[in-house]
Amino acid sequence: MDNSFSIIAGVIKHRRSTKPAQMNGKLIPDAQVQKLLELADWAPTHGNTEPWRFFVYSGNAIKTFCAQHAELYKKNTDPEKYLQANYDKFLHNGDTASHVIMTVMQRGALPKVPVMEEEAAVSSAIQNILLGATALGIASFWSTGGMVHHYSMKELLHLRNEDVVMGMIYLGYTDTDHKGRRVIPLADKIKWSK
Ligand SMILES: Cc1cc2nc3c(=O)[nH]c(=O)nc-3n(C[C@H](O)[C@H](O)[C@H](O)COP(=O)(O)O)c2cc1C
Repeated sequence: MDNSFSIIAGVIKHRRSTKPAQMNGKLIPDAQVQKLLELADWAPTHGNTEPWRFFVYSGNAIKTFCAQHAELYKKNTDPEKYLQANYDKFLHNGDTASHVIMTVMQRGALPKVPVMEEEAAVSSAIQNILLGATALGIASFWSTGGMVHHYSMKELLHLRNEDVVMGMIYLGYTDTDHKGRRVIPLADKIKWSK
């Protein structure tokens, strides 16, 4: 018990967000990504709605997806707000990632489970992926940037209005090593009563 606590605590504390630009292009075997998705499938889920869905891109599919993302930005941004630098970033963001996973909350058929709980379940599934990746020495990044929350992304993924895109997970390897930081003391986040 003690040993499994220290192992999982080490993994949780060592998980860090690594921007895709800091990934080095090395490829993760698909079988390892599949193992991460198996961890995702064991997230807690109210009413067993199991609302997590994943679109997994690798190889050329990453390039295609990033190009589609950049085009969504161009098509749906006022010309006076449009920045070519943003377009280029979306176009190239996956260049050095191994896999990109679009994560989706597929709203289940149980109205007694509030939307927020379905999103919480998918967030837990995402965290399972990030922690599993950390344990395998895989760098990860959960991003909701760009057009992730825009309706056009739902259309691209053929989702229904009630479904929610929860973000993109970039997976890859990195040569960089950065420390995490927390800015609010833990004590300020906890109220004990006895
Ligand atoms: C739901 C969610 C969305 C996020 N989206 C972005 C994002 O769009 N861009 C970004 O730079 N970081 C994003 N992050 C990552 C945070 O920046 C990162 O978790 C935070 O800086 C803490 O660093 P750590 O993950 O290494 O502890 C997101 C994190 C979460 C939970």
